[in-house]
Amino acid sequence: MRYSILTLCLAAALAAGCSRDAAPPADTANKDAAAVTASGQKAVAEVDEYSYSEPHKVRIEDLALELKVDFDKKELGGSATYTLDWTDPKATQLILDTRDITVEKVVGERADGKWEDLTFALADKDKVLGNKLTIESPQRNARIRVTYHTSPEASGLQWLTPEMTQGKKSPFMFSQSQQIHARSWVPLQDTPRVRFTYTAHVTSPQDTMVLMSADNDPKAARDGDYSFKMPQKIPSYLLAIAAGDLAFQPISDRAGVWAEPGMVKKAADEFADTDKMMQTAERLYGPYRWERYDILVLPPSFPYGGMENPRLTFATPTVIVGDKSLVSLVAHELAHSWSGNLVTFSTPKDSWLNEGFTSYVENRIVEDLYGKEAADMEKVISRNELAAEYKELDPKLQVLALRPGTLSDPDGASSSTVYTKGAWFLQFLEERYGREAFDPFLKEYFNHFAFQSIPTTKFIEYAKANLLAKYPGKVTEAELDQWIYEPGVPDSAPKTVSPRFDAVDAARKAWLDTGTLPAGDATAKWSTQEWVHFLDGMPQVLKPEQLAALDQAFHFTGTPNGEIAQRWYPLAVRSGYTQANAAAAEFISRVGRRKLVMPTYSELVKTPAGLKLAEDTFAKARAGYHPITTQSVEETIAKAKQPAKS
Ligand code: BES
Ligand code: ZN
Repeated sequence: MRYSILTLCLAAALAAGCSRDAAPPADTANKDAAAVTASGQKAVAEVDEYSYSEPHKVRIEDLALELKVDFDKKELGGSATYTLDWTDPKATQLILDTRDITVEKVVGERADGKWEDLTFALADKDKVLGNKLTIESPQRNARIRVTYHTSPEASGLQWLTPEMTQGKKSPFMFSQSQQIHARSWVPLQDTPRVRFTYTAHVTSPQDTMVLMSADNDPKAARDGDYSFKMPQKIPSYLLAIAAGDLAFQPISDRAGVWAEPGMVKKAADEFADTDKMMQTAERLYGPYRWERYDILVLPPSFPYGGMENPRLTFATPTVIVGDKSLVSLVAHELAHSWSGNLVTFSTPKDSWLNEGFTSYVENRIVEDLYGKEAADMEKVISRNELAAEYKELDPKLQVLALRPGTLSDPDGASSSTVYTKGAWFLQFLEERYGREAFDPFLKEYFNHFAFQSIPTTKFIEYAKANLLAKYPGKVTEAELDQWIYEPGVPDSAPKTVSPRFDAVDAARKAWLDTGTLPAGDATAKWSTQEWVHFLDGMPQVLKPEQLAALDQAFHFTGTPNGEIAQRWYPLAVRSGYTQANAAAAEFISRVGRRKLVMPTYSELVKTPAGLKLAEDTFAKARAGYHPITTQSVEETIAKAKQPAKS
């Protein structure tokens, strides 16, 4: 299911590899050489190769934003004021990450309270890292303020014209900061190692509602003047903003949905179980620490399924299918309130600490609310995907704790590894220790490292002390090391079987063998997951007549369900079932969620006729795509047009 994140990221990583010298900074390289063992890795994990900042010298403690949303210019402009902690007594420079930002002025607060001009240098753009901003601060100012504006092409923002929204009346904008796009809308130490509190004062056109990853007040007057406070320390990738014609509907007294007015009721119905999910997570892992939990439903161009912006998850509308069958997305983003937002990876190389833990917790929430069968089906789907992906995936991308220099672009991690193998590892530990020991362990882990950013080695140390040593004879250090540092999935991995999927397998086999379609009374009860599994298990190609028969019976072509569409259209394209082309093109134009559209693009570009359809469709759709999706499609098309390399 996370196929597209993988493919495009790999593509991005390859492309980026050409532009950026893959060699990490010298000190990283040195430590890297020594870091063969688990303990050796500790040293390298301290360096984030995706940020120019030097947080060991000076750190941002607090950020105060003063911003204006300008839809005409497609620009955020204003200032960012940093409260700094100068830890290195010799340091006199503040180095920030930026990308395509215009810096107008930099000032620093003197000891006497007056502000002085500071000199600064903005370096040329590195394709992956952006523009390094070096600010000279000989007086080591306690506060520094950068006045700036963003570019209409900011990689972390999307500006939508009214036609691209559901209501068609008002423009819309939203951010997507993870992994390293926050720097395209705020100059920052853009590394998860640095955590800061923030406040923001944002002005916008009067009828526009502005929301941030902060204390959004459902009752706030919609007057174009908004103030936000995030009193808890967060890493930069959780900085988020959205502006548009947004309405609110409560789910409970601490949870609710923001969406365009025409969407908000449907969304609130779909996500009605949100507070129950919070209660399950709290029972397992301790109190929800972020006060409110609201979900913002974005227009269909949102490039991801969901993003765990604190207090305000951003979500794709493509999971609103009317039967709650895709609400594990909410379980996932909510779970990040513990795994990710509370305990955060210290560099994107340790992404599994966020996504693997979160996928594990997500599955526990799904099991509690929707039953073991539902949870097991999710596990099987993602593990089958992993098996398919690992047939060709570079072994270096199959380890949980990535080695420095493995990814030129931090978006390039294998999602099967960080999500599925990561969660599988925790399921392995759960099985060995039993829930009675493992659940309290995880709860204490979240508590112990709350509001900290840690590398994988910290988890290992903690697990050795609080699991391996505490309950001897259950898991060896060698097993732990194998899961974390070696490619592939260890034989010790617990197996999951799904009787409901066995029935689907039998139905598929019967149809493939004899042409007998599965009985209507059985398929009437199939969930999205069963349909997904039905399609996932198909041979690479079928005969066009076979697809026509399936289509006639089940109406896959034109399905409103993106999880089904992202599997059906590639199969149709591979099989030469051209009747689906128009609907496939319509789907990848209407939806901009990268994971859903990329499998179809990747399949289309493999033949000249398909490539033409892909290019024509992209030409029409690109104005509505987010920069992240645009980049992936561009790379896929460009790669297909390159003469084959030997
Ligand atoms: N934090 C991720 C999204 C992300 C990961 C953005 C890496 C940028 C870089 C989010 O929590 C996530 O995992 N989203 C998934 C949905 C989830 C149900 C697996 C997605 O968008 O597909
Ligand atoms: Zn996630």
